[in-house]
Amino acid sequence: MKNPDQGGGPRHIAIIMDGNGRWARERGLRRIDGHRAGIDAIRRTVEACDDLGVEMLTLYAFSTENWKRPPTEVRALMKLLVDYLRDESDLLMEHGVRLGFLGDRRRLPVTARRELERVLDRTSGNRRGRLNLALNYGGRDEVVRAARSIARDVSAGRLDLTRLDEHTFASRLDTAGLPDPDLLIRTGGEMRVSNFLLWQTAYTELWFTPVYWPDFDKTHLTQAILDYRGRRRRFGALDPGP
Ligand code: FPP
Repeated sequence: MKNPDQGGGPRHIAIIMDGNGRWARERGLRRIDGHRAGIDAIRRTVEACDDLGVEMLTLYAFSTENWKRPPTEVRALMKLLVDYLRDESDLLMEHGVRLGFLGDRRRLPVTARRELERVLDRTSGNRRGRLNLALNYGGRDEVVRAARSIARDVSAGRLDLTRLDEHTFASRLDTAGLPDPDLLIRTGGEMRVSNFLLWQTAYTELWFTPVYWPDFDKTHLTQAILDYRGRRRRFGALDPGP
């Protein structure tokens, strides 16, 4: 997703794709139709990132809390995921995009896990861009899993607790080795982070839009990017001045 002509970032955009259900209801459609339209928006966004020089895109596709939805909707979302992975892996290859995964894959249905692993493997050599899917992902769950893995290593004598710092901790997260998001977009009008990338968004710029996810397109993405470019990121320091 790299385009050297487009400077100024953001390099990494994360998106909370909200509003599929409301989009469907307003059209007298079923919620699943909204999710299906959401898949088209994912496709458009991956292509737009390539055009606009965004190297990394991280999408919140299914949270650890989404299991509370009716079983029919959960099943339909898992089926959509399998269809998406089957249909899109050619497009990812075409755009040189490597797929990444955030979350706990152990609870995913076997077919979804198998398909996911196939596409992760198929695209593993791609270097132009990266698409991370957060599935069965929760920021708190991720931090707890990282803490557990550290505790295991400390009790086995493999890690010295006095040497644990932010860098070591981050290396145990699902995003190990990835840059933090520069920009977090949330569609659908709500203004909260809903357990998404809690550690990684410490200094991320936030951008909210009332647009429902299925209506999100390149114009909205461009608007978010331009807004981002107008901001001054200080990371807790003072402004260097003019
Ligand atoms: C929220 O809409 C959206 C989600 C549950 C996650 C996003 C899912 C997709 C874009 C489709 C599935 C994609 C994959 C890759 C599995 P909502 O249902 O909460 O909308 P509402 O707030 O209007 O009800």
